[in-house]
Amino acid sequence: MELRSGSCSSREACGADRRTPHCCRPRTLTLEGVVTSVYDRLIDLPHFNPDEDVDGEPLAPAPADLRAQLDAADAILFSTPEYAGTLPGSFKNLLDWTVGGGTYDKPVAWVNASASPTGAAGAHDSLRKVLTYTGTDIVERACTRIPVPRSSIGPDGLVADPAVGERLAGVLTALAEHVAERRRTDDA
Ligand SMILES: Cc1cc2nc3c(=O)[nH]c(=O)nc-3n(C[C@H](O)[C@H](O)[C@H](O)COP(=O)(O)O)c2cc1C
Repeated sequence: MELRSGSCSSREACGADRRTPHCCRPRTLTLEGVVTSVYDRLIDLPHFNPDEDVDGEPLAPAPADLRAQLDAADAILFSTPEYAGTLPGSFKNLLDWTVGGGTYDKPVAWVNASASPTGAAGAHDSLRKVLTYTGTDIVERACTRIPVPRSSIGPDGLVADPAVGERLAGVLTALAEHVAERRRTDDA
């Protein structure tokens, strides 16, 4: 399962949120057979350009790595801050690279870590719109708001509150159950 932050910053709450599953357990989390990996190359992605995303021609290394990681994942969990009422431009750029492949029919969910009164609703409405456009399988029961105020982040940059860790484990479990259900349906 791929964990994806919409922030370039190493200090953002959503990044801490995204990394927390790794601090709750050993570095690679195994939760009822779930193995997570963190995508941390958002900052390396070039601006999306359709001229550089042509069928049959090789992609630049960073977008190629992004698509390879997406292809390898059974599910994707997003966490993004809100910038100016919508998604950060750098994260929207990542999503633009997925229009050509990588997320179609893929189970996805998001954790909204915003502690602001508006709950970063604009960012998450935009994320839903893009993930619907790209044909993902949005797992509604795994999409969750877990406010992570700055005060709850420890000096290591990880969420220190065990209750938050438990809720994140619940999100991962819901996503994993959805993947398992789909496999059972496909095998039937
Ligand atoms: C350029 C910029 C624009 C932002 N715009 C919004 C916004 O529209 N709505 C909001 O709730 N927070 C906004 N924020 C705050 C970020 O979402 C916030 O930094 C993020 O949620 C991480 O929280 P933290 O700073 O407590 O770690 C903005 C931050 C920056 C740097």
